[in-house]
Amino acid sequence: MEKQIAIIGLGYVGLPLALTYALEGFTVSGVDIDPGRIAAIRSCSLGMREDFDGVPVNAVLKRCLGDGTLSVSDAFELVPKDVHTFIVTVGIPISRGWELDLAMLRNACTQLGRLLREGDLVICRSTVPVGTTRGLVRETLERESGLAAGDGFDLAYSSERIAEGSAYDEFRKMPLVVGGITEHSRNRAVEVLGAVNREPVFEASSMELVEAAKMFENAQRDVNVAVANQLARFAHRFGIPTRELVRACNTHTRVKILNPGIGVGGHCIPYASPYLFGSLPDAGEYQDLLPTFVSARQANAGQPAYIAQRISERLEGLEHRRLLVVGAGMKDFSDDITGSPALDLAGELTVRGAEVRVFDTVAALPGDVCAVENLESGVLWADGVILPILQGGIDYAGLKHVLLERGRNDPVILFDFRGVYEQQVDMVNASWYVRL
Ligand SMILES: NC(=O)c1ccc[n+]([C@@H]2O[C@H](COP(=O)([O-])OP(=O)(O)OC[C@H]3O[C@@H](n4cnc5c(N)ncnc54)[C@H](O)[C@@H]3O)[C@@H](O)[C@H]2O)c1
Repeated sequence: MEKQIAIIGLGYVGLPLALTYALEGFTVSGVDIDPGRIAAIRSCSLGMREDFDGVPVNAVLKRCLGDGTLSVSDAFELVPKDVHTFIVTVGIPISRGWELDLAMLRNACTQLGRLLREGDLVICRSTVPVGTTRGLVRETLERESGLAAGDGFDLAYSSERIAEGSAYDEFRKMPLVVGGITEHSRNRAVEVLGAVNREPVFEASSMELVEAAKMFENAQRDVNVAVANQLARFAHRFGIPTRELVRACNTHTRVKILNPGIGVGGHCIPYASPYLFGSLPDAGEYQDLLPTFVSARQANAGQPAYIAQRISERLEGLEHRRLLVVGAGMKDFSDDITGSPALDLAGELTVRGAEVRVFDTVAALPGDVCAVENLESGVLWADGVILPILQGGIDYAGLKHVLLERGRNDPVILFDFRGVYEQQVDMVNASWYVRL
């Protein structure tokens, strides 16, 4: 196998993937149409929190750019002519109304098609609606190259399953599912992907199967989250402690219910349903075929509003209430705020009249959020403190101390939605302690 490869799109997936190949001894050409992104890569000043066996991404980048194993550009024409393997990792943005914007993928394939030569291999790793690789990707590449997929060039699809922050580990250890337009295409893709990932590969009978598998992996997790959150609503109705209920259920050896939370955010799970939706010709068919997924998505999207209502009930209204949200990442221990339910909750509370401030140790907060620099002064200011997620760097023991001190004469209501203090009797028994 030639150890030359080009990665198209150098975002959260593409850049760590490019470095992973570079570390495996490949010579990698990276292309991204965003000149700002290329400048940040060239100056080794990326904000992403990836590391490569403990070495931070910017240090690895510096080394790979320095020794020439990685070169990056915003111009497709600069990809060397002796590169014959291309991996596409550009995204498909989705609007709030679930419209999929395929322009980036189409443009990437248009420009890539002009580079293609007889015998080249293209592997698409973007998350796409079912049929996109055989449809838009193949048609665009064929039109621009004048070559036929499966004959003039090889085409394959392999879903990307990494979690941000663990990319290097998961590129190497997360099992892969691969499909090709022909068996030959699939075999070539398996070989290229196998150069960095030595786990057994699931060789799928079609590219569509792999595209669908990616969506259902995420959609199933959406459903599991919805089950946990609805269990919590039911438990609340009967005054049953939710997490204890979950623990009880999970003593059954074939049951695995998740702990409930305030919603689900990030790049993947909330988008599974829009991709499923975008795979079907009309909304009616989507509703008919996938009612469970439809209602799970609705339930999870509505969870921050439900939680805001619970907080409002406990505080007997939100008008002019001062609320401190402690932790804003899109999930536990994340510095990423994409689709953060904690920030959605902050928004819901604000709309209902509360004055909301947010404290986080690692996530960069958006400009429209009122950020608090000091946790203790934030707690002293607040009528209510909300723990929507767990966050690294937050001193939960110190926070408990401040809460107990304040609880002596001027209690602040604590909404412990992640069960931080759930096993601590002095906290759980306090009149101001609230859990899901
Ligand atoms: N981020 C994750 O953790 C994750 C996990 C699994 C799957 N995915 C999927 O992988 C894909 C990429 O995700 P991401 O998070 O890296 O997205 P991203 O937005 O961070 O990166 C995409 C990059 O592609 C570039 N780009 C856009 N149009 C281009 C073009 N015509 N030519 C070259 N580059 C172009 C953009 O400038 C951007 O830097 C998406 O389909 C996503 O759903 C992401």
